[in-house]
Amino acid sequence: MKAALSRRDFIKNSAVAGAAIGASSFGIATGAPAGKTIKVAVIGCGGRGTGALQNCIDAGKAIGVDVQLVGLADAFQDRIDSAVQKFGLDPKKAFVGWDGYKKLLESTEAELVLTAAPPGFRPVHVEAIIGAGKHLFVEKPVGVDAPGCRRIIAAGEKAKEKGLSIVAGTQRRHQTVYLENAAKVEKGAIGKILGGVVQWNGQIPWIYKRKQGEGDADYMARNWLNFTELSGDHIVEQHLHNLDVALWFLGRHPESALGFGGRHRRYTGNQYDFFSVDYDFGDGVHIHSQCRQIAGCANAVTEFFRGTDGEVIPGGKLSGKDVSVPEFKGHENPYVQEHIDLINSIFDKKPINEAKNVAESTLTAIMGRISAYTGQKVRWVDLMEPAAKSPLYDMVLSPAPEDFEKGAVKAPADDVIAIPGKEGDIRDKGEAKPQKGKKKS
Ligand SMILES: NC(=O)c1ccc[n+]([C@@H]2O[C@H](COP(=O)([O-])OP(=O)(O)OC[C@H]3O[C@@H](n4cnc5c(N)ncnc54)[C@H](O)[C@@H]3O)[C@@H](O)[C@H]2O)c1
Repeated sequence: MKAALSRRDFIKNSAVAGAAIGASSFGIATGAPAGKTIKVAVIGCGGRGTGALQNCIDAGKAIGVDVQLVGLADAFQDRIDSAVQKFGLDPKKAFVGWDGYKKLLESTEAELVLTAAPPGFRPVHVEAIIGAGKHLFVEKPVGVDAPGCRRIIAAGEKAKEKGLSIVAGTQRRHQTVYLENAAKVEKGAIGKILGGVVQWNGQIPWIYKRKQGEGDADYMARNWLNFTELSGDHIVEQHLHNLDVALWFLGRHPESALGFGGRHRRYTGNQYDFFSVDYDFGDGVHIHSQCRQIAGCANAVTEFFRGTDGEVIPGGKLSGKDVSVPEFKGHENPYVQEHIDLINSIFDKKPINEAKNVAESTLTAIMGRISAYTGQKVRWVDLMEPAAKSPLYDMVLSPAPEDFEKGAVKAPADDVIAIPGKEGDIRDKGEAKPQKGKKKS
């Protein structure tokens, strides 16, 4: 039988193991603050917002804490109505509109806010939640451009000053198999990581077609998953999970990204439907990132790293040297475990802060997207160091979240996508012909 490992024991052990895997706080439901209550509100009440609320309620049940819903906010009345009905909230505590989050935060008695609106709105919502002094569960990704991600890192620092916890929806960091493999890799089970592959190859989750007479802001927010300005594109919105595992296991962010991508079959919005990116992590280490949303192709959602002494699929098998690590035990559902860890950290007054981790993973995905869209190599310093003097440092996607509140949203054209390279290529010079005297390849 497995011995239960307390969160404190694990933190102690992981501190001995070193910093690279210690990026997150982990553990199981121990030291449960039975008989206590926590008041919770949600911003963005779609599939994940209501799903995260249910996970939070289930986490409370697992550790004997009564999770009480005290407020909801969403851009749309129909989303609020269905969440109010599902969770039985007094409709007076539910707020609709682009500034619904402000009204919620002004009036709510919530101690913890879960935020799961489309990623483009994340920096604004996170700043407001931390500003209001609430603990935070924040869905990934945490932005769509570099300035937005830097706002999240700054809000994370504010949260530290205020003693607030932030847990991100990168649930693999709370999943037993990943934690155990991370601890083994940290202890040298596969030696030094030399490289790897991370993949999310699947299909387009959904599209929303514009209704007749629908305004730009409403259309974009309803079809957010297909507009880069609100989702970041699927390399950011979805593949971030796998990139996050690469940053976690390597213990650092990449130095640069050089990627390709394109669009064959998607419609509505302005995203690509595939990306292939080489991430250079320095020291000769490269991670190949691949993501595709096209139905009817070979699918894979996984990570793989090869080291000098072995190899690991972080969510599966590790082959390498025998090393001894603590036995990890947690809730079978990592989406629940992340809320167990969050609630425990609040009652233990030992704040978890995952803001920087998730912001750096989001930035990594953004580097890959910009590289594929432009055809250029994108360096970490381009997004993070003003001294690098890159125009990408201040590049904010438009419309920005503030534009929705100002009523100044012009939706980008549907089905017009980024084209890499510069004007004046062969397409602009007429028919492409093989050049005389040059070998055809
Ligand atoms: N961790 C995971 O595995 C996981 C899984 C699915 C989704 N997600 C993430 O959760 C987030 C939401 O995804 P979803 O699938 O729930 O989408 P969804 O479309 O079902 O829900 C989004 C909700 O946000 C609302 N909304 C839009 N603009 C808003 C605004 N300005 N203010 C408040 N509410 C607003 C929408 O009306 C909708 O109810 C995304 O960031 C997504 O990447 C994470």
